[in-house]
Amino acid sequence: MTAYRPPHIAASEITPERFFLNRRTFLATAVGGLVLGGATAARAAVLQALPSPYKLDEAMTPEEDVTSYNNYYEFGTGKGDPSANSGSFKPSPWTVKVDGMVGRPKEFGLEELLTFPLEERTYRMRCVEAWSMVIPWIGFPLAALLDKVEPLGSAKYVAFETVVRPEEMPGQAGYFQPLEWPYREGLRLDEARHPLTILSVGLYGRTLPNQNGAPIRLVVPWKYGFKGIKSIVRISLTETPPPCTWNLVAPNEYGFYANVNPAVDHPRWSQATENRIGEGGFFGANRRDTLPFNGYGDDVASLYAGMDLKANF
Ligand code: MTE
Repeated sequence: MTAYRPPHIAASEITPERFFLNRRTFLATAVGGLVLGGATAARAAVLQALPSPYKLDEAMTPEEDVTSYNNYYEFGTGKGDPSANSGSFKPSPWTVKVDGMVGRPKEFGLEELLTFPLEERTYRMRCVEAWSMVIPWIGFPLAALLDKVEPLGSAKYVAFETVVRPEEMPGQAGYFQPLEWPYREGLRLDEARHPLTILSVGLYGRTLPNQNGAPIRLVVPWKYGFKGIKSIVRISLTETPPPCTWNLVAPNEYGFYANVNPAVDHPRWSQATENRIGEGGFFGANRRDTLPFNGYGDDVASLYAGMDLKANF
């Protein structure tokens, strides 16, 4: 199996040679592993990435917590369901269709997506349920992908959709359907283009486990975790705000923006503090204060200048 390479660009022009070799190794391992044995083999694939300035002076959440305490309703509503029920999910082959208000709509194969220079970025993540983690993601800026399709001047928003595969996702197959599928999310175009916004293809030095959204998911660290849509198959540029799953379910509880904001409580609980997973003590001394924009205010507050963040929660 040879790695995909855009025909007109030498690999050495895209990334340093060392990195390119590592990525080739990844492709051979990941794709070969899938042929041989399914999701477990893909999860084991080492995914090397360039270092980035996005680091935190905080302890990382243990990998076993990151991969066993999940929200992914396509595999069940319990925190342990995604890791328990996603073993038959096939993250390869995979394509992401990018369409809508763009000059060059295109369907990207997974191998082409992996030719974007990958970086390791350690981000603080905050779930709307008032728990948080620190996760070393591997990914690339969403802006890099958007540049390739040339958004039209009229495009104002970006809509995302998760795959629908009831045969591989038991949460989509049973009698009880907790959500309407596909899971959908959306960002304003300037949020989508912000350098902090990435499409992630890995964590902790390996390809994404199925329960974390393999093979590719969104990560927006200043927003509540539900914006981080998993297993993306379609990205569409739109003129009007796209429908978002949790906003449709309960618009008074989950806004379109979903910026982490300790000053705006969820109608049923406070958002002022959070429990860092892996540190123990949900109600105890380990609870820490939640930061505006999850601590990324210096980078992103200007995106919302002049907006009432209580009304636009
Ligand atoms: N994406 C899909 N397709 N389905 C989901 O149920 N849950 C969201 C988000 N993305 C979800 C999803 C929620 S509520 C959270 S908190 C994050 O995924 C959790 O990501 P993690 O399990 O990798 O921590």
